[in-house]
Amino acid sequence: MDADAPIGVFDSGVGGLTVLRALTARLPDEHTIYLGDTARVPYGTRSGEVVTRYALMSARHLARHRIKLLVVACNTVSAHSLPALASALPIPVLGVIEPGAQLAAARTRGGAIAILGTPATIASGAYQRTLRRLAPLAPVIARACPLFVPLAEEGWTDGEVPRLVAERYLADLRRARVDTAVLGCTHYPLLARTIAEVLGPEVAIVDSAEAITRSVSTLLREHGLLRESGDSAARHRTLCTDVPERFRSVAERFLGRPVGEVELVDLAT
Ligand code: DGL
Repeated sequence: MDADAPIGVFDSGVGGLTVLRALTARLPDEHTIYLGDTARVPYGTRSGEVVTRYALMSARHLARHRIKLLVVACNTVSAHSLPALASALPIPVLGVIEPGAQLAAARTRGGAIAILGTPATIASGAYQRTLRRLAPLAPVIARACPLFVPLAEEGWTDGEVPRLVAERYLADLRRARVDTAVLGCTHYPLLARTIAEVLGPEVAIVDSAEAITRSVSTLLREHGLLRESGDSAARHRTLCTDVPERFRSVAERFLGRPVGEVELVDLAT
């Protein structure tokens, strides 16, 4: 494997750019190639079987770009499909669940841990199982918050509407001695401020996008695969499976900078 090869980052859509943003901030010399499956988003309301079928198609497509590592930015795919992806690809595959749960286990101070995610992520029990292993004494409260995804896509991340939605999903957690909340969905970091306001200042917010960048950096270092910048700047390619114009128009909110060219790809070919 080649240290100069790109890191592949995959998500059901545009939300995984929050992971790419954290990754490129921590590892600015790495080439990246991002694939958002915008033709089939959202994954979070689908069955595990369908999520895995879609994820395998995207992962195989990225593997053809000779990536050195696959980062599964999508929590829903990480929850359902990691074993299938790991056995289908000849490269390391990293998901967001384990790093997010590790960070939550390190942050909790004896209270309960709240997991916020899509219906499919919560139904999989993946975060709950991982936290039982890493923080066996912490009560875990899992909460599906599906409306956060379209709110983030629309850019409705502050103000009355997201506040009311967050109150509806999360108000009762204030009475449950929650001290740590995991943003277990690529879109939720955009709503972090609103979520934090509703949960209260004593609750530590864990962003699975931040958490996975540590694991990526450790894995690349251990395998001798960190790229040295030399004279050439890092290159970033962005692919999606439908409506690249819409992808480009919402991407900046997630990435924090313009995304540049977005290439349309067909996963069936
Ligand atoms: N990327 C998904 C996740 O992190 C959220 C969007 C979707 O439902 O596909 O779970």
